[in-house]
Amino acid sequence: MQKREHFGSRLAVILAMAGSAIGLGNIWRFPYQVGQNGGAAFILLYLAACLVLALPIFFAEAAIGRRSGSNVFGAMKKLAPGSPWKWVGLLTVITPLLLLSYYSVVGGWAVDYLYKACTFSFSGNTSGIFSNFISSTWEPLIAHTVFLALTAGVILMGVKKGIEKFTKITMPMLFILILVIMLFGLTLPGSWKGVEYLVKPDFSKITAEVAASAMGQAFFSLSLGIGTILTYASYMKKDENIVSSGTYTAFSDLLFAFLAGFVIMPAVFAAGIAPSEGAGLVFETLPYIFSQMHTGSVVAILFFVTILVAALTSSISLLEVGVAYMVEEKGWSRRRSTLVLAAGVWVVGALCSLSFGPLEGVKILGLGIFDFFDQFCSNWLMPLGGLLFTIFVGWYMRKADVRDELTSGGRFNRRIFGAVYFLIRYVAPVGIVMVFITNLIF
Ligand code: PFF
Repeated sequence: MQKREHFGSRLAVILAMAGSAIGLGNIWRFPYQVGQNGGAAFILLYLAACLVLALPIFFAEAAIGRRSGSNVFGAMKKLAPGSPWKWVGLLTVITPLLLLSYYSVVGGWAVDYLYKACTFSFSGNTSGIFSNFISSTWEPLIAHTVFLALTAGVILMGVKKGIEKFTKITMPMLFILILVIMLFGLTLPGSWKGVEYLVKPDFSKITAEVAASAMGQAFFSLSLGIGTILTYASYMKKDENIVSSGTYTAFSDLLFAFLAGFVIMPAVFAAGIAPSEGAGLVFETLPYIFSQMHTGSVVAILFFVTILVAALTSSISLLEVGVAYMVEEKGWSRRRSTLVLAAGVWVVGALCSLSFGPLEGVKILGLGIFDFFDQFCSNWLMPLGGLLFTIFVGWYMRKADVRDELTSGGRFNRRIFGAVYFLIRYVAPVGIVMVFITNLIF
């Protein structure tokens, strides 16, 4: 058995966690969720969901991960031997694979847009670029295949170190590019309506479904409820502060989402696109922004390269959960696990991709295939995983062990431990169950 590795420094932990958290969820999913769920009121609910539900789950997952020093399945077997808790581990193997299948479709859209940027397609009239692309059969499928192949390639080659070095450059670059595009977007005529839309809440828009979506977005964006944070925390050293690492990760993730919101929404209004457009919103809006910029093509190329890297650091963390499980628990080789799992993910992803074109008429519970998987994973499976993690830490683990993890053996957070434990034991599980119940009833 190989000795388990540990992250070298506190910065490395935060960067790895932020690398998983910051991705398409911030740049693609957050703006379209805001637009579909009524704007500023959704953002307030989202903030509340991050602080009250998501952060405690982050701490709970990280506590399990570091205490056990194992993958999800192994962690449950170690901390709760002979109990049915190990089946939670299985849930967290299936969910990331489902999530990756449609994540890879959107990653493919970014691949295709990078190609379009390189061939100077974002000039002149850009309306119709996205709808023509998405409703076709082969182009999005090929793009999905390329993105998934890149993800599998990174996992196979094990160039994690390279990717980490790369992200150290690309993440700050993404941040600067977003700021530049945002400042430019705000100069477009009509854009201030978009700013208003983001800051003036209309509380009549809040419904059970909106609350469920806000919770789902918090889980999606912070990579919670499916064992990613648990696995990463299992590589943390004992003297590192789980609570502050989680808070930094959540803060940078929120910052990226808000910046993306302020890039996209003003441009949505300037271009006359409906904010409630759905999953294609960002990909309809960006070509318009780039077509209006003098140096649009250069910015577009840089932008899609960095988005692609941000998406890859998230997608590899999704595939790695399943691969680690197959290797450690089933004894498969790394190569076989990667290829078999990627093939399964490709098939489900292909169905999601085709659901915008030839399979548009196929509905599951009234939703297209892509939307069904997206909502099922983020609004139900991820919060369910998170709920089980908080119950495990809040009610199954010994309080002294939880204290030991969250205070790093009494080194940090001694004063706030009581409050954090209360959030994990009562507030987060009750909140998730309440959102589940209201959503089922309404
Ligand atoms: N948090 C990622 C994003 O916002 O793009 C998506 C994600 C990655 C979700 C890893 C879950 C996960 F385990």
